[in-house]
Amino acid sequence: MEECPRSRIDSRAVKPYQRVTRPGLGELDELASSIVPAKTGHFGNDAEAVWEAAEAHRVALPETLRSALGIFYTPPAVAERLLDDLAAAGARFDGTMRFCDPACGGGAFLLPVARRIADRLAVEGASASDLARCLIGIDIDPGGLTITRIALDALARDRFGETAQWDLRRENTLRLAVEKRLPTADVVVGNPPFGRVRLAEEERAFFVRCLKGHANLYGLFVDVALRISGGLVGYVMPTSWLCGEYFSSLRELVSQERPLRSLRFVESRTTVFVGVLQEMCLAVLGPPSVRRAATVYGGLGRGRCWTASVDGTGPWFIARNPGDAELLQAAARSGYRLADYEFAVHTGPLVWNRHRGQLSSEPSVETAPIVWSDAIRAGESVDYKSSRRSHLHLSVDGMRHLVLEHAAVLVKRTTAKEQARRVVAAPFASPPAVVENHLNVVTARDVVPKVPVEALAALLNCEPVDRLFRSLSGTVAVSATELAALPLPAPDALIGLLEADDRDAFVLRAYLRAD
Ligand SMILES: C[S@@+](CC[C@H](N)C(=O)[O-])C[C@H]1O[C@@H](n2cnc3c(N)ncnc32)[C@H](O)[C@@H]1O
Repeated sequence: MEECPRSRIDSRAVKPYQRVTRPGLGELDELASSIVPAKTGHFGNDAEAVWEAAEAHRVALPETLRSALGIFYTPPAVAERLLDDLAAAGARFDGTMRFCDPACGGGAFLLPVARRIADRLAVEGASASDLARCLIGIDIDPGGLTITRIALDALARDRFGETAQWDLRRENTLRLAVEKRLPTADVVVGNPPFGRVRLAEEERAFFVRCLKGHANLYGLFVDVALRISGGLVGYVMPTSWLCGEYFSSLRELVSQERPLRSLRFVESRTTVFVGVLQEMCLAVLGPPSVRRAATVYGGLGRGRCWTASVDGTGPWFIARNPGDAELLQAAARSGYRLADYEFAVHTGPLVWNRHRGQLSSEPSVETAPIVWSDAIRAGESVDYKSSRRSHLHLSVDGMRHLVLEHAAVLVKRTTAKEQARRVVAAPFASPPAVVENHLNVVTARDVVPKVPVEALAALLNCEPVDRLFRSLSGTVAVSATELAALPLPAPDALIGLLEADDRDAFVLRAYLRAD
């Protein structure tokens, strides 16, 4: 690489901004308008060199701006794999299909798409303009677009001895959608930005079909992709869309309009995508005329694949490895959930910093013990006194609604990444108490539950349940919604669990009995 373009920020163009946690579309425009792209750059069309140039541009931008605009770039190997998955689903790189990346950044997808098409067209004696007709790129960041243009020029010069007028648009794609100015294409491919965004009333009304609660940029970009292409969509996305509650309308929309054709989990988040902490996947969506189980891959390699049948609002359970796929099928057939056991789940109601004045270290007639998250150890009955917190009591005068009056199972809402188990549950048989907000509370509808809380906690702590949970969520968080969605064995099959020598094997048999 000879020279990387170093863009800069025009500080007069934008007022000093702090971290924007939920920008509106106008703020996205304002942030992007402060970017002054570098005018030159000679990095050719080699994918690695272009990626490095894009990275140099990215790191030159302030962190606040990068995160608000969701700027991180797809490494060449990941982009190539997604293009292969699209090809397997029917995308043709022969000049007969038009590809659009609605958030094209530094051309991580447009360049390899162009290379595939150019290799074919050059042999057939076509021109750079024929290639240009197959490509549309949109981005709000002029710096990324400059890099894309330079790379495409270099490729066209190399293959056709000339450059072309590329269809690269400096626009806010979401605004184009609302204003009904989106282009059309056969295939949409890309890595849309993610992060929460605030929508004005009319914008929300426009995107309502994909929204439930907070809007996330990548959910909106999926909606946009379905509007641009009547055919295939290939996107890099966080796996949170598969199970998160905020994405239930999006899943419904996808299953109706463009069912999942393939899904590839990206195994190592920190090394594959620089600066991205979420678990990511490569998703290919196809037209509804073809409805079949999706092909699932556990990583970027060409290793073994398995299938997943997902539909409707979900959450969508998708096994992370072939071994779990068999367990998942058996669990899905058993069809029981916590609600069938007549248990309900909610998050612990005590947000301690809202009640600082009512916390105390000593009990009194007005107080109830507080169960803090660190008092929960898998398989052990809860003893609230085992917490290291100094305030173990809460004055509940006038706040009886916070008090848990019945036996329950308490489940941690988050675990450390390196911890072996995601689901950490403990029976709580000595009410009353107030449960802190870092715990989920699983309570029986009846005073004498169908399944004793000790047996339910033992079940939740077993390895097969943990494996199932990991098929539901790639994060360290364990939400009440996910717990409620976990498939469980038939309640009768749990008789004898507490006495079993090998509880993991017992629970596995209980799931498989449903087969
Ligand atoms: C995750 S990056 C991906 C870029 C490129 N497709 C890649 O894979 O390397 C997301 C891109 O979305 C762009 N972006 C963010 N908000 C946008 C908007 N509202 N309209 C158009 N582009 C947007 C950012 O500038 C950034 O280039």
